[in-house]
Amino acid sequence: MKTVLLTGGTGYIGSHTAVELINAGYKVVIVDNLTNSSIDSIEGIHKITGVRPDFVKADCSVCCEMESLFKKYNGFHSIIHFAALKAVGESVEKPLEYYHNNLSSLINLLQLMKKGGGGDLVFSSSCTVYGQPDSLPVTEKSPYKPATSPYGNTKKIAEDILRETINVNSSIKGIALRYFNPIGAHSSAEIGELPLGKPDNLIPFITQTAVGIREKLQIFGNDYDSADGTAIRDYFHVVDLAKAHVLALKRLEENRNKAGFEVFNVGTGKGVTVLEIVKAFEKVSGLKLNYEIVGRRAGDIEKVWADTTLANTELGWKTQSTLEEALLTAWNWEKKLREVKSEK
Ligand code: NAD
Ligand code: WQD
Repeated sequence: MKTVLLTGGTGYIGSHTAVELINAGYKVVIVDNLTNSSIDSIEGIHKITGVRPDFVKADCSVCCEMESLFKKYNGFHSIIHFAALKAVGESVEKPLEYYHNNLSSLINLLQLMKKGGGGDLVFSSSCTVYGQPDSLPVTEKSPYKPATSPYGNTKKIAEDILRETINVNSSIKGIALRYFNPIGAHSSAEIGELPLGKPDNLIPFITQTAVGIREKLQIFGNDYDSADGTAIRDYFHVVDLAKAHVLALKRLEENRNKAGFEVFNVGTGKGVTVLEIVKAFEKVSGLKLNYEIVGRRAGDIEKVWADTTLANTELGWKTQSTLEEALLTAWNWEKKLREVKSEK
């Protein structure tokens, strides 16, 4: 059985990927320092799959902690590197923490891989590297735009570190998946997005408003160039994203990644406005959402969606769930989360 290390594996995307990897027959080891997730994810993964992944609490940015981990498992067949701080606004306040955490973690892993600790790496990149593109949809060849935050910059620099390291180390192969906007939760509602404190992303704001934790959703701007004036993104189901990681690992194993380092956009290829999301949520939940239009959010881009041709043809990946299905799972997760919390 091939052992895959998931850094940041108790987090939102990592926990869903753990489920898909276990279902695909991999042994999963999770390392996380739990700064932005809960150990409850391990129980959720166990309930869904019947398998409890190994969990090690450690900090990927601390070299000796990673050395001990690699020693304990005698290296890994492959690594999926999710661990990162990801709050855009916070990164502007704390740039050093973000550069240190996100980049030292990657460098530690690459150094251990170079010493024989593993050959295949899948990295969590982001559509943030495109900024506001000149033309849409964006392909993997669209140029990087200057990052609007230290967080965004860590993704751009991380891709550069990967490309340059892999260029001169033929034992390492890597794929960066540039995620667009993953949403939703596992259909079992055993795992999902768990923002600690105030959320950053649209869907938790919507579900928290619907469940009554927030009075109203604020929609940031209705003067954008779109059908209803609200901003456009490419939202897709997190379980579909999890499956993209399994396919990326398979591509690396089957040695079809001739380039050494490759990048793939992962999204639906379709842009949706904020108001369309609100309407779709109202439809699946049967609720009327309380919202108000306010000014634009600083640093927001107007519109972005992916050209996913490369992921479709090379990884054999495409989204399977609809927007409504994804929103329904997000809603079921939020409701379950609040029931459990109120019982505790
Ligand atoms: P998340 O915060 O839920 O998961 C990240 C996990 O990494 C958390 O469990 C956190 O505790 C852990 N972590 C952070 N620093 C660590 C460290 N130094 N050592 C060990 N563990 C550490 O976030 P997510 O949404 O699951 O995102 C996963 C990855 O995908 C991140 O790299 C993020 O930047 C990237 N990404 C996310 C989105 C999104 O919309 N969620 C979009 C594009 C890219
Ligand atoms: C989506 C839309 C908001 C909240 C983030 C990260 C980016 C990348 C992708 C990781 C926007 C609007 C939101 C609210 C709103 N992630 N909105 N009211 O903007 O694509 O960016 O995810 O790499 O780095 O910044 O996603 O979910 O924050 O916002 O109107 O309360 O919803 O203005 O148009 P975004 P988001």
